[in-house]
Amino acid sequence: MNATFRTVLLTLVATAVLALAALAAFAWSGRYGIGADAPHSAPVTAFVASVRDHSIRARAAAIAVPADLSSEDRIRQGAGNYDAMCATCHLAPGVGASELSRGLYPAPPRLDRVKIDPAAAFWVAKHGIKASGMPAWGKSMGDEYLWNMVAFLGALPGLDAGKYRELVAQSGGHSHDDGEHGDDGHDHEHGADHHDAVQPGGPAIDPGAAAAVAVVDAFGAALAAGDLAGVKRMLDPAVLVLEGGGAERSRDEYMDHHAGADAAFLEGAHVTRTNRTARASGDLAWVATESTIHAHGVKPQTLASSETMVLARRDGAWRIVQIHWSSRPGGT
Ligand code: HEC
Repeated sequence: MNATFRTVLLTLVATAVLALAALAAFAWSGRYGIGADAPHSAPVTAFVASVRDHSIRARAAAIAVPADLSSEDRIRQGAGNYDAMCATCHLAPGVGASELSRGLYPAPPRLDRVKIDPAAAFWVAKHGIKASGMPAWGKSMGDEYLWNMVAFLGALPGLDAGKYRELVAQSGGHSHDDGEHGDDGHDHEHGADHHDAVQPGGPAIDPGAAAAVAVVDAFGAALAAGDLAGVKRMLDPAVLVLEGGGAERSRDEYMDHHAGADAAFLEGAHVTRTNRTARASGDLAWVATESTIHAHGVKPQTLASSETMVLARRDGAWRIVQIHWSSRPGGT
């Protein structure tokens, strides 16, 4: 190794080490904004998009697309699952932005306005996309159901609101098997009418109810934070609140009376959830939550609390239409 070559090599290594150290120092400084409400800078956006697009393309290339993807049956079956599992984020014809779609970064594309390569759509629907809101549906759905949804995505950009609702209504609602758990002999087929109100052995949280559950959690968080404007936003104007044997029959009545006291009670309280089930059928969802509340207020106490919330979806957003709270002293 001659001296010049050695110098060049050492300089390169030193530069690389310095660059890595600078990167680490930048990461540790906390200066990079990780909040979802401010976009990445242009170079970072371009880099992340390039990693995502190339990764998806490389993996989708090996996927064989079924020949009958444009069959009416596949499209109709996919419609119900799209409406139940994808529309809260990706929206649908005649549906405006939802709280979820507005808050996510990167923003979920409107799948009623773009055509996506079927193999790529299948891969993304099955595996999801890291560090974005896009879930891996393959963990709960079998390939055939995913392909039906991809078939529906092919037809979606051509649908108007009326045709969309018609297909969803004809689809038999939200139905799928257990995906990677394989065929374990119980294939939950949920009809549009009875859905899976009581599915022995079914999941505690129906995937179709996930967005409603998010609203229930956001409501609890807003109440505990004393964010009464946030509390109000999540309640339907005609909400019925049943609490301690009494009833409040509208959002205004609840906001004027109990909301403040409930917020004050929860302030600084420690809430531990002990059980939850959630179900959805069409535009209705119901979420039952049991928890233990340690309140540190004027009078420290521990309560076992149970809550039922009923939510209705209007224009793509879930709102609470009924609440029932009850509690008794002593936790579980
Ligand atoms: C909680 C929100 C959320 C839900 C629910 C959701 N997605 Fe996504 N999806 C996203 C986000 C966010 C992206 C964009 C990710 C990115 O660009 O990195 C995305 C991206 C996609 C893409 C890639 C689009 C493209 O331009 O290549 C497809 C296809 C997709 N989703 C399909 C689905 C399907 C099918 C469902 C329902 C089974 C679904 N998504 C449910 C949030 C969601």
